[in-house]
Amino acid sequence: MNVEDALKKRISIRNYLSKPVDEETLRTLFERARWSPSGGNMQPWKVIVVTGQAREEVVKIGMDEAIAAYANPDLRQDDEFNVYPPNLTPIYNNRRKQVGQDMYEVLGIPREDKISRYAHVGRNYEFFGAPVGVFFIIDRQMGRGQWAHLGMFMQSVCLAATEMGLGTCIQEAWAFSRKSLAKHFELPDNEILYCGMSLGWPDMVAPLSKFRSKREVVDSFVQFKGF
Ligand SMILES: Cc1cc2nc3c(=O)[nH]c(=O)nc-3n(C[C@H](O)[C@H](O)[C@H](O)COP(=O)(O)O)c2cc1C
Repeated sequence: MNVEDALKKRISIRNYLSKPVDEETLRTLFERARWSPSGGNMQPWKVIVVTGQAREEVVKIGMDEAIAAYANPDLRQDDEFNVYPPNLTPIYNNRRKQVGQDMYEVLGIPREDKISRYAHVGRNYEFFGAPVGVFFIIDRQMGRGQWAHLGMFMQSVCLAATEMGLGTCIQEAWAFSRKSLAKHFELPDNEILYCGMSLGWPDMVAPLSKFRSKREVVDSFVQFKGF
């Protein structure tokens, strides 16, 4: 698979086969992703990968706490920094709404069916059925730059996974139980759990596995000067 194909083929997968992913495959994946660039080559990322019983344990945390927090914002554990900035200007808010609308349309869930929408959101906390969950962690001393580099690493994981036939879905939904997960994983105080990721063999029969979210055209975000 070439880079263009991987970039275009990678989508967030929210339906997985129950087939496990073995450790060797995951080691190969991270062996490839570790070649991501980072400022000063600091490689400001840490990863925890869970499957089996370890996965069950975090699913329980997600189901117990994050879902409650989804319904009651006071319980959210993303107070250190919000998943979404408050008061987003319309351009960004509209894009966010649009992708939700488009996704629920594919799922056949109408806007007024709040219960089904909650149920879909709840699937985040069972990694959308993926046999593997991944958590991305960064040292608190790191600044905006290094957080961007963590993001680049995460994209590398997604692209390498795509080439290997694996599906991924990055999930900041796990931020709602960020503190409980940090405690569960016994993270030192200097580390913060940024977000999770579902990982597994995609169920390509599911309609959502073919959902390609929209993008802005190049001229809307790139200025070409001096050509
Ligand atoms: C940092 C980050 C956090 C995300 N969090 C979630 C999430 O919690 N749940 C979810 O279903 N998708 C999540 N996504 C997936 C985005 O919704 C998705 O990337 C976006 O709509 C574009 O679609 P695509 O990935 O299929 O191209 C997240 C993506 C990123 C990069």
